[in-house]
Amino acid sequence: MAALGYVFESQTDTEVIAHLIHHHMAQGRDLLAALQAAVKELTGAYALAVLSRREPDRLACARMGCPLLVGLGEGENFVASDVSAIVAATRRVIFLEEGDTAELTRGAVRVFDADDREVAREVHVSGVSLASLELGPYRHFMQKEIHEQPRAIADTIEAAIDAGGFEPALFGANAEAVLGGIAGVQILACGTSYYAGLTARYWIEAIAGLPCSVEIASEYRYRDAWADPRHLIVTISQSGETLDTMEALKYAKSLGHRHTLSICNVPESAIPRASELVCYTRAGAEIGVASTKAFTTQLAALFQLTVVLGKLHGKVNAEQEADYLEQLRHLPGSIQHALNLEPQIQVWAERFAGKQNALFLGRGLHYPIALEGALKLKEISYIHAEAYPAGELKHGPLALVDAAMPVVVIAPNDRLLEKVKSNMQEVRARGGELFVFADHGTATSANRKACT
Ligand code: BG6
Repeated sequence: MAALGYVFESQTDTEVIAHLIHHHMAQGRDLLAALQAAVKELTGAYALAVLSRREPDRLACARMGCPLLVGLGEGENFVASDVSAIVAATRRVIFLEEGDTAELTRGAVRVFDADDREVAREVHVSGVSLASLELGPYRHFMQKEIHEQPRAIADTIEAAIDAGGFEPALFGANAEAVLGGIAGVQILACGTSYYAGLTARYWIEAIAGLPCSVEIASEYRYRDAWADPRHLIVTISQSGETLDTMEALKYAKSLGHRHTLSICNVPESAIPRASELVCYTRAGAEIGVASTKAFTTQLAALFQLTVVLGKLHGKVNAEQEADYLEQLRHLPGSIQHALNLEPQIQVWAERFAGKQNALFLGRGLHYPIALEGALKLKEISYIHAEAYPAGELKHGPLALVDAAMPVVVIAPNDRLLEKVKSNMQEVRARGGELFVFADHGTATSANRKACT
């Protein structure tokens, strides 16, 4: 572009694209045709909405690898990456497909496929509620979403509670045949969704008796992975649009995996659309940057998947199923109980505010929970945080522990509690400050802080 005389004010790819479109308009193309010509020269992922001073009543947009939708209003039309941005104005949306371009004026919308042929895409009516997009009494959306967890979990488990059991149909019409015929599970996801998958592995292997691997989607998609077509591919994604997870799903299919299941929070998003079976979490709109209720609703969905698999593979009997259902029924109340600890957590937060580093420890299925805790702390406070399986403490990280290093421990009253207690003793011996999440009634000791 520089050779053509364009002067750059930034080093962003966005500016390159703007100049490229301008270049094609200078050859006599209108805005849409210039955009269509420009995207053919692009590689990678993009979601573009373009305006030109020359055609101020027209918007052109293009999508590849990133979410983009068109909202259809009365005498007005919209482009957005997420329904929540436009739901106050319209609920009627067209989800653009990979390679699509579109042209919008106030009165009309035209959509074109990757070969620039005009196409008719389905119009969806979004069910996102306006109330879910308002802050209400909360200080910020992350706080609101944390407090929405009892409701979000209750909604996600509602179908199982109403049915009085864990039916394969929770995952789609054909789920019984598919889930009953698999020999293992391969979970693919990114970020928090990956940690939900890591947690589920403990359940799937212990309760359903099936081998389960969990892999970060951006690693899986670029390696020569070994594929067993009898293994079910489970993708987990709040948004349903994460490019690495989508590409990992495509790659798994290309390796011969025939059966795929998506656990997702956004209906009609790309990943569930590309999957054979779907389970929608019902967390509601996620506005906050950090995933909170999305994570716990994913866990609720994955637990339901585990019990369904356990039933179909003869590992969960009717009595155990009833017991799991009863435990699930109590989950929203238990979460509310934990949320009631907020004043105590605020006191802890003040102690953390001046720290540079923190360690999170857990064992068993609470190790991925520790990973998620560390991710939340670094993402939101910019405090460096790492998580370790507590048994690994002695193999290196213990050397970092001193009075300046807060150590957060997840210590529920399970069969690993005694092991975790001895890890806490190691921290104490090095003068470390312990912050312990334990079950109510678990013995506490004088020199640690505990949330029960
Ligand atoms: C990251 C978000 O960009 O994407 C995380 O910051 C999220 O919160 C991750 O877990 C994966 O997103 P998704 O939508 O695929 O679950």
